[in-house]
Amino acid sequence: DWTPNAFVEETVEELKEKLGNDKVVLGLSGGVDSSVAAMLLHKAIGENLYCIFVNNGLLRKNEFEDVLHQYEGMGLNVKGVDASARFLDALAGKSDPEEKRKTIGRVFIEVFDDEAHLIQDVKWLAQGTIYPDVIESVSATGGPSATIKSHHNVGGLPDFMKLKVVEPLKALFKDEVRRVGASMNMDSHLLGRHPFPGPGLAIRILGDLTREKVRILQEVDAIFINNLRSWNLYDKVWQAGAMLLPVNSVGVMGDERTYEKCVALRAVESTDGMTADWVNLPYEFLQKTSNEIINKVKGVNRVVYDISSKPPATIEWE
Ligand code: XMP
Repeated sequence: DWTPNAFVEETVEELKEKLGNDKVVLGLSGGVDSSVAAMLLHKAIGENLYCIFVNNGLLRKNEFEDVLHQYEGMGLNVKGVDASARFLDALAGKSDPEEKRKTIGRVFIEVFDDEAHLIQDVKWLAQGTIYPDVIESVSATGGPSATIKSHHNVGGLPDFMKLKVVEPLKALFKDEVRRVGASMNMDSHLLGRHPFPGPGLAIRILGDLTREKVRILQEVDAIFINNLRSWNLYDKVWQAGAMLLPVNSVGVMGDERTYEKCVALRAVESTDGMTADWVNLPYEFLQKTSNEIINKVKGVNRVVYDISSKPPATIEWE
């Protein structure tokens, strides 16, 4: 019978044997899979695991600082790299969804490769790949795997991709990954986090991106997610987030007409992201959340709720 405790014990032994005194580099995303993979490797090889957590400027509000701090608290040998400006500059003026994805993938690889080169004699690249990532051609759960494919055509692999690969979670499903994390006493908040796409808020800001749009969406998203938590709805939802739409609409504030942005809230139930149903959130929750967003976030005067299921609508809007 499979148990998380036995899995941890066996995997740590295997990793010790396989890796010996070698150095390993791993990219942390803030998500469940890479975090659990890091903890397993940390147990096996300690300081020889070099974790890199990149801020692409498209994370949730305060996420980079909060999660980095949490990783440090877990004892991980982690380096936070704030590359926000590099990503946002590269994205300036780009509005096509695939072009945005490719740009983010390319910059991520450049940043990660630069960092990996700073580690002397690194031998392995660790990844938080889980079983569904192996069976689907494109990862739906995050990580750079999807973007790496499009980089292939640009000629020559970056050096970190020539490293030997170690993937301790390759045989597990998501719920098993969470149980493994729990058996290592990892924070339940971290283990219960919703999936979040690698390109982050970039694919929730429809069309071109500016720093101001990122800021607005971070504020809106934070209100939505905090309210889901305080209403005890967060864990009942598979994934939730807000989309910043490329339309302005007329509103009224006092005696003034406004002409400002519209955001769409989206919350779905799903087991694997391949199909999804929109969640029937309580009207009262939507009412309070909408009021709070419009009152607190300058530049937004309208909130709508997305009632489309997948298929045919995707979870993300881009
Ligand atoms: P869609 O929008 O295709 O999303 O219904 C399904 C799941 O995949 C996530 N997603 C991505 N994850 N890079 C990622 O790492 C991407 O480019 C990407 N696009 C979508 C999405 O958040 C959902 O969980």
